[in-house]
Amino acid sequence: MSRTSSFSVDPARLDGVVQEPLFAAVAAEAAARGIPAFAIGGYVRDRLIGRPCKDIDFVVEGDGIAFAEAVAKRMKAEPVHVFKNFGTAMFMHGDVQVEFVGARKESYRRDSRKPEVEPGTIKDDQERRDFTINALAISLNAGSLGALVDPFGGILDLDRGLLRTPLDPDITFSDDPLRMLRAVRFANQLGFTIDPPTFDAIKRNAHRLEIISAERIHTELNKIIACARPSIGFNLLRDSGLLQEFFPEFVALSGAEEKYGIGHKDNFHHTLQVLDNVCAASDDLWLRWGAVLHDIAKPLTKRFHPGLGWTFHGHEDKGARMVPKIFRRLKLPLDEKMKFVQKLVALHLRPIALTKEEVTDSAVRRLLFDAGDDIDALMILCRADITSKNEKKKERYLRNYELVMQKLQDVEEKDRVRNFQPPVTGEDIMRAFGIPPCKLIGDIKTVIKDAILDGRIQNDRAQAWQLMLDTGRAMGAEPVAGMDRPD
Ligand code: CTP
Repeated sequence: MSRTSSFSVDPARLDGVVQEPLFAAVAAEAAARGIPAFAIGGYVRDRLIGRPCKDIDFVVEGDGIAFAEAVAKRMKAEPVHVFKNFGTAMFMHGDVQVEFVGARKESYRRDSRKPEVEPGTIKDDQERRDFTINALAISLNAGSLGALVDPFGGILDLDRGLLRTPLDPDITFSDDPLRMLRAVRFANQLGFTIDPPTFDAIKRNAHRLEIISAERIHTELNKIIACARPSIGFNLLRDSGLLQEFFPEFVALSGAEEKYGIGHKDNFHHTLQVLDNVCAASDDLWLRWGAVLHDIAKPLTKRFHPGLGWTFHGHEDKGARMVPKIFRRLKLPLDEKMKFVQKLVALHLRPIALTKEEVTDSAVRRLLFDAGDDIDALMILCRADITSKNEKKKERYLRNYELVMQKLQDVEEKDRVRNFQPPVTGEDIMRAFGIPPCKLIGDIKTVIKDAILDGRIQNDRAQAWQLMLDTGRAMGAEPVAGMDRPD
């Protein structure tokens, strides 16, 4: 069984847990009420592997809300937020979120619309959770205080790095199909393997993702993209059939066609390599999304030209136009974040196009203008996009990349166009010619911007003012007396 996890399980990490004030208060309350209480789920898992965790869930065999209120009183931790429909209550203990729920027989789903709340025992509650490693509990009850309650071999699975459902996986996944995505996410985050029978069940049930909201899906997908090497998660998503359910455009990147002995690279693997490369350089989720989508239109723009081979002309523009559609479907934000991703996709070929010998300062200025403050993110994506296996080629590309970086820096130092602010504003133009808002103003502004980007004038107010006067006159407007110089 392969395991790439850097975590190791140590039961000694549970030592002293019951002396900690919160756990001691829960144990005292359990004793006072004669009700069994347990810490359970992600917190127990994370504590055993030494991973930080800011949520602690407790299960009690009885009324979780009343119990939470009593513990909060002991801890002087107010207010208590009660979610009656779900039978849960939570309060903050420092920066830790503490939640209580009554043990239940049915599936444990915090965000289910129709929560089933038939009371059950701790065992009932544990078996309706998603994975054995998430069903571990710590007893806070006299006689077994601090002991691990592990009816499904969760600690063994944690130790060998295995994701396995406590019940028949078909049942666990039909209780909440999102758990299939959670399996992939945990496998990626923790470096664990999905147990083959569990993985087979995911393949069988993948289509059931259709009943899951786009928000829940993208939350898990973003957690995968936030991993150190999301390629692991994406490969599992594709191999399980899950990816096809919510992101068919990405699956369509797969495959390397060949004609007359000429092939092209598999853009699925290429994209994942670019994504992993970006992840090594940046934590920015949206830059990572830029990597996910940079070549998304390649399948749609692929052509074979005899003599020329495979081309993907215009995939950057078509790809940029696909971004809103994909973001809308996945209910990802449609604001500045999406625009940033769109910009990265649209511009991702531009830096490397600047490596040609005859490249002009004007082309460099235009890239700085178009990318603005996102130029650094664009350059990270661009460098990550160099995935050639041919070492000589790779070296050449990397040298070219360094050259572009140098050119960008030189031109920016000289011309300051990265955050271009027009040296002459629309207001200036209206005052200079005594005219109301009209098309002429936009036309003059464009002439000035192009002249600066092309290097015909400097990014300077006096020169821009003169060009404004000349352009206005040429277009038939007469400057107001005394406006022949900037103020
Ligand atoms: N759980 C479940 N099925 C789900 C979601 C959650 O069985 N679809 C159970 C698991 O026992 C899980 C616990 O609820 O450990 C808490 O859920 P959550 O906070 O979402 O996950 P964690 O396991 O704590 O992991 P993370 O915080 O990384 O999401």
